[in-house]
Amino acid sequence: MLNTKLDTVKRLLSDYQQEHLLQFYAALPTASQEKLLDQIAAIDFEQMASLYRIVVNRQTPINDIAPIQAQDWAAFDENQQALFADKGWEQLRQGKVAAVVVAGGQGSRLGHAGPKGSFDIGLPSHKSLFQLQAERLLNLSRTANQHIPWYIMTSPENHISTISFFRNSNYFGYNLKDIFFFQQSVLPAVDHQGKILLEAKDRISLAPSGNGDCFAALKRSGALDDMQRRGVEWLYYCNVDNALVKVADPAFIGLAAHFNYPAASKTVERAYPEEPIGLFCLSNGRPSVVEYSDAPRELMLSRDEQGTLAYRHGNISIHLFRLDFALQVGNSQLLYHAAHKKLNTIDQKGNPVSPDSPNAYKFELFVFDAFELAEEITVVTTNRQAEFAPVKSRAGADSPATARQMLFELHRSWLLAAGVPAEAVRDRQIEISPLTSYAGEGLSPDLLKRIHDTKVDQL
Ligand code: UD1
Repeated sequence: MLNTKLDTVKRLLSDYQQEHLLQFYAALPTASQEKLLDQIAAIDFEQMASLYRIVVNRQTPINDIAPIQAQDWAAFDENQQALFADKGWEQLRQGKVAAVVVAGGQGSRLGHAGPKGSFDIGLPSHKSLFQLQAERLLNLSRTANQHIPWYIMTSPENHISTISFFRNSNYFGYNLKDIFFFQQSVLPAVDHQGKILLEAKDRISLAPSGNGDCFAALKRSGALDDMQRRGVEWLYYCNVDNALVKVADPAFIGLAAHFNYPAASKTVERAYPEEPIGLFCLSNGRPSVVEYSDAPRELMLSRDEQGTLAYRHGNISIHLFRLDFALQVGNSQLLYHAAHKKLNTIDQKGNPVSPDSPNAYKFELFVFDAFELAEEITVVTTNRQAEFAPVKSRAGADSPATARQMLFELHRSWLLAAGVPAEAVRDRQIEISPLTSYAGEGLSPDLLKRIHDTKVDQL
């Protein structure tokens, strides 16, 4: 049996010039041999060959790119903003909204061993990124008197540990029937010559296939069917790593429902030309995002006649997809991007190697490539200080320290707006639970008195 399998695999490898994958096979214990053969047999070598062609034929789409117009949220008057919020609440009350968080990434820049959502950014409460999102959703569900189903994308690498983390935390009070874990796929990584890399003598180097795999994974897992059964009309999508994300923000939902394009996105002004965030634009007249890692330098630096960044609308990974559109994307094939990365591998003798410079290509689908399947989407500017605190690296920019600071400043501004005297919060770092307030509302005089009278740092 093993031999037949071995013969089939050998033929496959020779057809695609990947024979090196069996380089250490003969000396492996039988169980490891089987494991390796199964991994190889699961690879779609035709797909891998075409993915490697992306690396070889690399082209920049700069000629087709133009700036995109965005709705300016601050330019809507108070009445209009309130109407959008009412419309969003209506959607929430009627159970027409689902939340999707993509948490299948490896979080390698952060250097955290567990799933990124389990990361504690060092708030007084020590809540994890997952807990912050869960409690914001619970707050909205309570007010809307309607559950918001929550779909969490994991990868084979962190699926079990993510579920254990939720179980050990009692799902943060979330109703078990409203929480759904679904797995994205993985793809082999290749070297500069297109050879599939081994992570160990008996293990192929596999990497998650990008957050754009969420549509296919939602479909495959039955999550899209589940949404249809529940009568969901909008999927709110966000990253796992934004500590301030206003999950399922009613005003954003109302605005998207008002324009009723297949998708909507929040955007902030790019802070500086090299900021590592995607650039909203039109590509061949279609809404699009050029990822910072793919963007040619002249596009990042390009300025208009007033001297402001020509592509000033940055992507903060907060999107809404109409369910019919998510179904359409789930049935389409998005294009892969190749990312040049440092990956641990083994050398000719089987010894582990940690390279100093990028040695591998990983292949990823990007969620925003779905936009090009829509003729138009709603792009709306939002307030960075209130909504975008990414946690990407251990220290420096976009780190736990910067995210914490932003959260403290935002919560201080809520307290001041609610009437707490400035001297009561001066030099204090106060965290307000998302269960107490979603966006600064409902801070009662009693709570404010607690802040005033005691040294508590959590409400
Ligand atoms: C992402 C956006 C970028 C945006 C920035 C804002 C993409 C492709 N890029 O960049 O345009 O400006 O966020 O912070 O969306 N993930 C998966 N599976 C994967 C890979 C990633 O679920 O295979 C998840 C991660 O867990 C994370 C999110 O996708 O929640 C973003 O991942 P990451 O690859 O770190 O994207 P950024 O480079 O931060």
